[in-house]
Amino acid sequence: MAETMIEDVYARKIYDSRGGPTIEVEVVTVDGFGRASAPAGASTGVHEVVAFPKGGVDEAIKLVNEVVAEKLVGMDSTDQVAVDDLLHEIDGTENFSRLGGAAALATSIAVAKAAASSLGLPLFQYVGGTFAAEIPFPLGNVIGGGKHAGERAPNIQEFLVIPVGARSYGEALELCFRVHREVGRIIGKFDKSFAGGRGDEGAWAANISDEEAFQALSEACHNVSNELGRKVVLGVDFAASSMWIPEERAYLLRREGRRRAREEQINYVIEVAERYDLRYIEDPLQEEDFEGFSLLTKSIGHRALICGDDIFTTNVARIRQGLEIKAANAIIIKPNQVGTLTDAYKALRIARTGGLMPVMSHRSGETEDAFISHLAVGLRCPVIKTGVLGGERIVKHNELIRIEEMLENVKCMAELPPQLTR
Ligand code: PGA
Ligand code: ZN
Repeated sequence: MAETMIEDVYARKIYDSRGGPTIEVEVVTVDGFGRASAPAGASTGVHEVVAFPKGGVDEAIKLVNEVVAEKLVGMDSTDQVAVDDLLHEIDGTENFSRLGGAAALATSIAVAKAAASSLGLPLFQYVGGTFAAEIPFPLGNVIGGGKHAGERAPNIQEFLVIPVGARSYGEALELCFRVHREVGRIIGKFDKSFAGGRGDEGAWAANISDEEAFQALSEACHNVSNELGRKVVLGVDFAASSMWIPEERAYLLRREGRRRAREEQINYVIEVAERYDLRYIEDPLQEEDFEGFSLLTKSIGHRALICGDDIFTTNVARIRQGLEIKAANAIIIKPNQVGTLTDAYKALRIARTGGLMPVMSHRSGETEDAFISHLAVGLRCPVIKTGVLGGERIVKHNELIRIEEMLENVKCMAELPPQLTR
């Protein structure tokens, strides 16, 4: 076991895709090396762990270099649970507010990578074993709005596609790129001043309404599906907590300067789900409305995945609460919402046992780290949400192409739930 022993830990400041500072951690073992960094959200859920301590990224780096490093050296990097327990112990709070979730996650993933490297395994195989060989389908953002784009962009944060008819990851990507290009062309018809601008996740940022965005996406998916003979279906992330005004108990439609009451929002979600045949609907309501989620799941859950992101925040207690009233049938797994690989795994296990389809997800502020590609395969998530374009998204896609190649003889595309394949 000596070759997996941790010999050195080092943290530094690097930058994410928005130019925001973040932390990168390197872990050296006798025989291996791992490097990982933490992404950052813009529409963060209130129940996520705290990303950085009071002193910001610099304090987080100091804590890793001066406190965490000393305790990790000498530990076995393959003992992921003990490492993650230690991070909690050093932090000593419920929400990583002293160490910061970003430092915890970068350390936790760097340790896993160092362990895998010491054993001569790719991360997905170290995490998932020999038969972790299912290739996830990409879920990608084609039109951006809400907190990911400017004032004139749609209210809805993300208009998404899933190429469910793809027979390989490479083919899935081709379909996503084609739809993205096609949407860019169609947007020009709605927004005469459109100059090809893109938002935080590489999705088009245009002066169009939600309605126009739905139309453009629908037309593009239809065209590309027909042309290539492979089905691409529509999805959406309302990120409704970002639209919610608690004092008024209403959703703000920023673009129109109008409000929508809870019941109106529920009816609107049902209506667009039917009109545009949406197969995937993320955060249609604000993060505390478990009952509303449950209502929607009961009413349209047979035809669409109702996916919880901010409502669950990859948190075991929140997931249990949701499972009790069947609040959703899918869940976003964002490791940085909870701070360690072990915590993300526990959340995923409980979610899956409760019948939620897990979606491994990026954040809007990403780094070049592609660990979510490995976790999607290793932890058997049928879908990975990581945008369509942008260098920091493409690295995740390219890593999956490599993983697919490594798996050559055993691989198959993941099995998708009936809401996506019907
Ligand atoms: P965020 O949003 O990474 O900006 O929080 C992504 C999402 O809501 O899925
Ligand atoms: Zn979301």
